[in-house]
Amino acid sequence: MKIMVTGGAGFIGSNFIHYILKKRPDWEVTNFDSLTYAGNLANLKDVENNPNYKFVKGDISDPDDVERLFSSEYDFLINFAAESHVDRSLYNPGLFLKTNILGTQLLLNYALEKGIKRFLHVSTDEVYGSLGPDGYFGESSPLAPNSPYAASKASADMICRSYYKTFDMPVIITRAGNNYGPYQFPEKLIPFFITRALKNEPLPLYGDGLNVRDWLYVEDHCDAIFTVLEKGNFGEIYNIGGGNEKTNLEITRLVLETLNKPESLIKYVKDRPGHDRRYALDINKINSELDWSPKMDFETGIQKTVGWYLENQKWWEDILSGEYTRFYELHYKERS
Ligand code: NAD
Ligand code: DAU
Repeated sequence: MKIMVTGGAGFIGSNFIHYILKKRPDWEVTNFDSLTYAGNLANLKDVENNPNYKFVKGDISDPDDVERLFSSEYDFLINFAAESHVDRSLYNPGLFLKTNILGTQLLLNYALEKGIKRFLHVSTDEVYGSLGPDGYFGESSPLAPNSPYAASKASADMICRSYYKTFDMPVIITRAGNNYGPYQFPEKLIPFFITRALKNEPLPLYGDGLNVRDWLYVEDHCDAIFTVLEKGNFGEIYNIGGGNEKTNLEITRLVLETLNKPESLIKYVKDRPGHDRRYALDINKINSELDWSPKMDFETGIQKTVGWYLENQKWWEDILSGEYTRFYELHYKERS
C-alpha cells in the first residue's frame, strides 16, 4: 500500500507517520510538507532512513508542487496539512484560507484525477462552534465556526463533502478534539505552559481560565485515523474525542503540579477574541460502528507528555527563536 501524508512534519502528522510505520511496516509512506514554521523534520529523525519513508517538500496550495507530487501513484491520502493555530488566524486569515481551503481543493482535484482509493481529510471539532455547559457535538450538529481558522476548516469539510456527492469520490472526514502529546509545537496550550513553567516564566491564561476543551492523546488520534482509514465509510464524518473535558485552569494547575512549580506563575490576561467556551464530542458513531475508543488515561498522558518535554529540551529550545519569538511578542503584548 502506498500512502501520501500531507503535513507529516507537524505535530499530529509526524506522530501518525511513526504510528503507521510501526503498525504497517510494509506500507510506503510519502510525507508532503512545505515546512512552515510548524513543520520540523527533526520530528522524523528516527525514521528518515527507513526505506519505506520518503519526504517531498511542497505546498498543497501550489499547483506545480501538487502536480509534481501526483506524478507518483498513491492508494490513500491523509490530509493533515493546515495552518492550525487559532491565535495566528486572527493576524493572517488569508493564509488560513489559502492553505486550508484552496490547498485541500487542489489535493482533491488531483486525487480525483488519479483515482485515489481513499481520501481522509483530518478536521476539527472547532467547525461546530461553541457549546454551553451541557450537551455534545454530534456529526450532524450544525457548523458554526467562530475563528478564521475554524471557518477555513469548516469550508474545507464542505468542499470534501461536495467532491463525494458530485464526483462520487471516496472521501472521509474526521473531526477531533484538542490533541496533546510529544512533538506538539510549543505555541499550543499544554506545551507552551510546560516550556514556560520550566523557565519560570508567567503562564498567560486567557479570560477567566474556565473555557473547556476535550483532550485527546495524539497516539489515540492516530489510532482512530487508522481505524477510519481501514473501516470507515465513504462520505461519512467521524468525531474523535478523548472524553477528557478540562478547564484551562485545571490543565494549568496539573502542569504546574507535575513540574513542582508554584501557582503564582499563573497570569490572567485579556481573553482571545471570539474565544469558544466549550468543546465536547459525542463519539458514539466511531465507537459503535468502527469499534474504536480512546485508550490513554488523561493523568498518565500528561505525565508522559511532560516527561517528553523534559527529555527533549533541545527539540523545543531550537524552536524558541526567530519566527516564533516574533509571533509571541506581537500576540502576547496585545493580551497583556
Ligand atoms: P501543525 O501546525 O503542528 O502542523 C501542520 C503541518 O502542515 C506542518 O508540518 C506544516 O509545515 C504543514 N503545512 C502547513 N501549510 C502547508 C502547506 N500549504 N503545504 C504543505 N504543508 C503545509 O498542526 P497539527 O496540530 O499537527 O494539526 C494537523 C491537522 O489536524 C490540521 O489539519 C488540524 O486542523 C487538525 N487538527 C488538529 C488538532 C490539534 O489539537 N492539534 C485537533 C483536531 C484537528
Ligand atoms: O479543538 C481542536 C483544536 O484544538 C484544533 O483544531 C486546533 O488546531 C488546535 O490548535 C486546538 O485549538 P485551541 O484553540 O483549542 O488550542 P490552544 O492550545 O491554542 O488553546 C487551548 C485553550 O487554551 C483555549 O481555550 C485557549 C487557551 N489558551 C491558549 C494559549 C496558547 C490560553 O489560555 N493561553 C494561551 O497562551
